[in-house]
Amino acid sequence: MPASSHFFVFEGIDGSGKTTVSKKVSELLNTKSIPNQWHREPTESVHGLKLREFLKGNTKLSPEEQLKLFLLDREVSVNETILPALKNGKTIVQDRYYFSTAAYQGKDEEHAADILYMNEDKGFPEPNRVYFLDLSPEEALERRNTRGGQKEAFDDEKEQTRIYQNYLAILPESTIFVDATADLEEVVNFCVEDILKLISESH
Ligand code: TYD
Repeated sequence: MPASSHFFVFEGIDGSGKTTVSKKVSELLNTKSIPNQWHREPTESVHGLKLREFLKGNTKLSPEEQLKLFLLDREVSVNETILPALKNGKTIVQDRYYFSTAAYQGKDEEHAADILYMNEDKGFPEPNRVYFLDLSPEEALERRNTRGGQKEAFDDEKEQTRIYQNYLAILPESTIFVDATADLEEVVNFCVEDILKLISESH
C-alpha cells in the first residue's frame, strides 16, 4: 500500500451523526490536500440493495440472512472500491465497516466478537483508525424522534442498547471515542486534526 494511502472508518449507533460527520471530514481533507474518497456500506451492489430494502422495513431477513448479505456486500466493497483506491495512493473515509456487522448482527458480545474474527479471517483490510461517534442509546433515540423520518429495522431503544454494548466490546483499543453531543464543527475539526496528525506521523 503506498504511504499516501489511509483508511479511516466512522462508526456509531443510529442517530449518532456519522454520515454527516464523515462526509464533512472527507470534504475538509480534500481542501487540505489529502485526496480522498467518501464511501459507505451497505453499498449499491445487488446485496447492498437487498439490505437497504430490509433496513427500510420493506422486506424481512433472518439474522443469518442479514449476516450473509452484509459479508457478500463487503466483499464487493473491498474488492471494487477500498483496495483499488488504497493501491492507487488514495485515502478512504468510510461510513460503517465490519464493526457495524459485529455490533448490529451480533446477538450478544460473544457473538459480536465471533463476527469480527469472521471478517478479519476473510482478509478484509484493517483501517488505520476508527472514530466512534459516542452517544448514549437514550440520546440517540431522542435525536431520531426529533429528526422524524421513516422507522428503520433496528429502531428501538432495546436494540440500540444491545448494539451500543456490542460496539464497546469489539472496537479496537486504538479507537477514538468522539463526543457526538458536541457541535458538528467541533466534532469534524477534532477528527480532522487527529487524521492529519496520524498522516504526518506515518511519513
Ligand atoms: P446507515 O445508512 O449508515 O444509516 P444511518 O446513517 O442512519 O446510521 O446504515 C444503515 C443501517 O445498516 C444501520 O441501521 C446499520 C445497519 N448495518 C448493519 O446492520 N450491519 C452492517 O454491517 C452495516 C454496514 C450496517
